[in-house]
Amino acid sequence: MVSVVTYQRTTREFVVEEAPAGPPESEVSIETLRLRIRQQEILADFGVLALKGTPFAELLDQGARLAAEGLKAEFAKVLKFMPEENRFLVCAGVGWGPGVVGHASVGADMASLGGYALKTGKPVISNHLDIEERFRTPELLVEYGIRRAMNVILQNDHSPYGVLEVDSRLEDEFVAADIVFLQGLGNILGMAIERQRMERDLRQAVERQQLLIKEVNHRVNNSLSIVASMLHLHASVAESSDVRLELHEASSRIAAIARAHPRLYKSDRIDTLDTLDLGAYLTEVCTDLDASMPDCEVRVVVEEGIEIRTDRAIPAILLVNELITNAAKYAYPAGDCRVWVTLTRVQRETVVISVRDEGVGLPPTFDIKSGRRLGMRLVDTFSQQLQAHLQILRKNPGTEFILALPLKAPSQDG
Ligand SMILES: Nc1ncnc2c1ncn2[C@@H]1O[C@H](COP(=O)(O)OP(=O)(O)OP(=O)(O)O)[C@@H](O)[C@H]1O
Ligand SMILES: [Mg+2]
Repeated sequence: MVSVVTYQRTTREFVVEEAPAGPPESEVSIETLRLRIRQQEILADFGVLALKGTPFAELLDQGARLAAEGLKAEFAKVLKFMPEENRFLVCAGVGWGPGVVGHASVGADMASLGGYALKTGKPVISNHLDIEERFRTPELLVEYGIRRAMNVILQNDHSPYGVLEVDSRLEDEFVAADIVFLQGLGNILGMAIERQRMERDLRQAVERQQLLIKEVNHRVNNSLSIVASMLHLHASVAESSDVRLELHEASSRIAAIARAHPRLYKSDRIDTLDTLDLGAYLTEVCTDLDASMPDCEVRVVVEEGIEIRTDRAIPAILLVNELITNAAKYAYPAGDCRVWVTLTRVQRETVVISVRDEGVGLPPTFDIKSGRRLGMRLVDTFSQQLQAHLQILRKNPGTEFILALPLKAPSQDG
């Protein structure tokens, strides 16, 4: 049994009753059977349309169009409930003249078809609007000479979105099978509306998250810059030249981290925040270094499209920073400083970063393991942390540091 709400003229009340069953099975015409088959097809097609993530406005339009087609009605509309006004806005529809869809509104109180469907959740049918004197027929329906109408609720998880209504001027009756069809369509539309609402909420949450990340990163970067300039200031007032030098070094290391930091959150996509393009990152950091050392030219040649996890890229870049700074500091006492940095993929999962100068060369006593300064100890520590292999070549002229870097830590899967 399909129950519907109908308006009882005698009692002036809505009552829940069995929907008009239509002609007995033996008398069902071929035409009616064809229509039922068409209704099945419409439900199947509309289900696909809803799952495909069709744009919201188009989905509502199609819902209204298919509702009218499936019921051989001239009019249909999606009514969006506006709780503050207790009215429905005609937000999509077919058959209506200009100025209706997107503009017209109808009451949503319990004395209206749509209002009753919304509040009770039951399909509402009226097959005799034209002869109903006491029933409050919306002006819009009177204006269009609508004789019969049928409403189903568009339900979602929270409050209902509104109702789907089919209207006709033709003399005929909506029967039980029509309600089943319209409610099926309404259920699909209701679920699609709910899904789109959830997707919108999720998108907004992701956008908020991205904004937050950008803001946090911005602040971290500012703080690093403040720390660097504080140390710089501290250095300028230090009395001992050793302390001055140390503070300057510390300041420029923090500045290097601050410079590298903004590259890490440039991506607009939250799912790519944990990896980055090593070549692009290296180029940008070297370009910054080049600009911060007016007496030294840093030339970079990199292969693009080498993806690496951010947590591996940072130590690698800080290591390169130490090597470039050293070349600028020691390799060219007579000036004309030039440093070459290259990044090449040598195997699928291994890259080589080379930092080379054509300067005076390392002191004969140089030993990365026994040096007491911080720079080379950092280089050695980062290299071990990355499980990379560092080769130091004394060249003629100059020095080349070659870092063979696995893109993934051997323990990292995938
Ligand atoms: N490219 C280079 N050319 C010539 N000498 C170098 C080069 N790189 C490093 N050195 C030598 O190696 C030494 C150790 O370097 P390291 O980076 O450990 O110390 P630093 O630069 O003197 O101090 P820190 O880096 O701790 O501020 C340097 O003092 C320098 O003599
Ligand atoms: Mg150094």
